[in-house]
Amino acid sequence: MIKAVVFDAYGTLFDVYSIQALAESLYPDKGADIAVKWRDKQIEYTRLITQSDPHNPSGSRYFRPFWELTRLSLEYTLDRLKLDRASGQTDQLMQQYAHLTAFPENLKVLQEIKAMGLTTAILSNGSMDMLRSAVNSAGMGDVLDHIISVDAVRLFKTSPESYALVQQSIPVRQEEVLFVSSNAWDALGATWFGFKTHWVNRQGLPFEALSSQPHYSGPDLRSVLVSLR
Ligand code: LAC
Repeated sequence: MIKAVVFDAYGTLFDVYSIQALAESLYPDKGADIAVKWRDKQIEYTRLITQSDPHNPSGSRYFRPFWELTRLSLEYTLDRLKLDRASGQTDQLMQQYAHLTAFPENLKVLQEIKAMGLTTAILSNGSMDMLRSAVNSAGMGDVLDHIISVDAVRLFKTSPESYALVQQSIPVRQEEVLFVSSNAWDALGATWFGFKTHWVNRQGLPFEALSSQPHYSGPDLRSVLVSLR
């Protein structure tokens, strides 16, 4: 019996590749490459930091807010592609990142989940300010009961400490949480943690090849409503 539906933010509610169009206009023919390399480096940095000091009682000493990692990974990506960033391109792309487009079906799905009487939340690597900005830009403030950032434990997903934050905000048992992510690695981490999981497979990819499977999956956020029936 699911009581709370908890969403990943970037890639799941907000379209991280929507910055590709701006990147393409700043750097013709490079938009797709920038978007993919930027995202990969950003996630790589979260793992590098969390794996390097996971048992520190006050979180990783190397922790930096996701907003900072997002900027650093963008700078790295532009340098790696030997692209000029002297004319404010980094700021322009970061500004866009703060107001990412939400996937079109998302708001309605969140409204339907609220109408079912379930608790809704975000659990994200994102820093609180950037999450609030994205939620407000997408008009989702009224349909999300909690915004939970890993800032509180200074360990990124997929650390168990980060997933455990859900139950510190919402009084539910692990198996009463449906965790929804379009990042396969995140759906897997949440499955290993003990949540029920739904993988939103927007790109028709194979799931991670590590034996465990998410409990549910579907091609877009509407499929979550099917899992809840
Ligand atoms: C998040 C990223 C990892 O929102 O998608 O946590």
